[in-house]
Amino acid sequence: MRVLILGGDGYLGWPTAMHLTAKGHEVGVVDNYLRRRLSREEDVETLFEPPNLHERARLWSEKSGCAVEVFIGDLTCWDFASEVFRKFSPDAVIHYAEQPAAPYSMLHRRAATLTLQNNLLVTANVIFGVHEFAPEAHIVKLGTMGEYGTPNIDIEEGWIEIEHKGRKGRFLYPRQAGSLYHTTKIMDTDLLWFYVRTWGLRVTDLMQGPVYGMVTDESGEDDRLFPFFNYDEIFGTVLNRFMVQAVAGYPLTVYGKGGQTRGYLDIRDTMQCVRLALENPPREGELRILNQFVELFSVNKLAEMVQRVGNKMGLRVQIGSVENPRKEAEEHYYNPVHQGLLELGLQPHYLTDDVLAEMLKVVGRFGANIQEHKIIRGVKWN
Ligand SMILES: NC(=O)c1ccc[n+]([C@@H]2O[C@H](COP(=O)([O-])OP(=O)(O)OC[C@H]3O[C@@H](n4cnc5c(N)ncnc54)[C@H](O)[C@@H]3O)[C@@H](O)[C@H]2O)c1
Repeated sequence: MRVLILGGDGYLGWPTAMHLTAKGHEVGVVDNYLRRRLSREEDVETLFEPPNLHERARLWSEKSGCAVEVFIGDLTCWDFASEVFRKFSPDAVIHYAEQPAAPYSMLHRRAATLTLQNNLLVTANVIFGVHEFAPEAHIVKLGTMGEYGTPNIDIEEGWIEIEHKGRKGRFLYPRQAGSLYHTTKIMDTDLLWFYVRTWGLRVTDLMQGPVYGMVTDESGEDDRLFPFFNYDEIFGTVLNRFMVQAVAGYPLTVYGKGGQTRGYLDIRDTMQCVRLALENPPREGELRILNQFVELFSVNKLAEMVQRVGNKMGLRVQIGSVENPRKEAEEHYYNPVHQGLLELGLQPHYLTDDVLAEMLKVVGRFGANIQEHKIIRGVKWN
């Protein structure tokens, strides 16, 4: 398949490009380095600076013999986006190209506006690009489990049947996000659903939980092929941050009571899930929603695991407590369904002690780069 990966420089985009070319697909990647720019502007650069996208494509081609076509530009700009769609003519589009951080979206008005404009306009241009230049193409969109929030009932895979006053209907599962970023993801889903109904698009919306890890089958131990890795409060995800904090000897930053429970997955499973969705497309005129995570953990549980494994490795890991900057339930019911991807063939990687120890070792290789002032930045929801 000819697969266009939007956001191909990103944490998930670059490993996906390597993974799909290794599996025989023809891949183009598109990025405008927004994530690198925002990290620099907020003084929260990643644990190490990966080579630029052209250089990564060259390194990967030398290693694997697989070519990745690179397009640099802003997908909110229709002239650029339409040119890419016309030139590449994709069979499928993977849409990662968003401002993906909840704390960034809550920083200040400018960050909020950037998040709204960027995320919604890219999604709109993806829809228009597919409609105009590749009407058969399958859109694989990354959503987030955060769209559902933490309701007091079981979370279904995207849809719910409701009986009301003796009549029944099938609706998008109720969504109630906990940040502006998550709200833009809900709006994305609504946009896609509108155009699925109107133009008969073929869409998979993957409601993904927080991802952890760095090494994939394709990168191996070659750190020039690793994705970038944020460990700060603004762009880092919780387990990646805890691992860096453990290596730095910084008490793990548990927010509030630490009972916040979410569904997590290994970066290698993101690769699998996205490929499985791609290779098993929905029918024309279908919005398929799949919940993409492997295991549920509370923040306290993750902190305990990192402490136990870290201490076995000789790190002196302490667990701290930080006043919760977010507006979220610290203890709640959480029971989401996640059957669809398993039925498509997902073989999950679980967060075992060995997996954690391996990840801590890799993070340890970059220990000298850790800057403590990046860890907590005091972004408050109020
Ligand atoms: N990483 C996670 O744990 C996680 C969890 C759930 C959902 N997601 C979703 O998955 C997707 C990818 O996440 P990620 O962690 O790889 O984020 P990321 O920021 O590392 O990657 C997104 C990439 O898109 C690019 N981009 C953004 N706007 C663009 C634009 N206008 N034009 C061109 N390129 C643009 C950025 O520069 C960046 O390289 C996001 O949509 C995110 O919301 C991620």
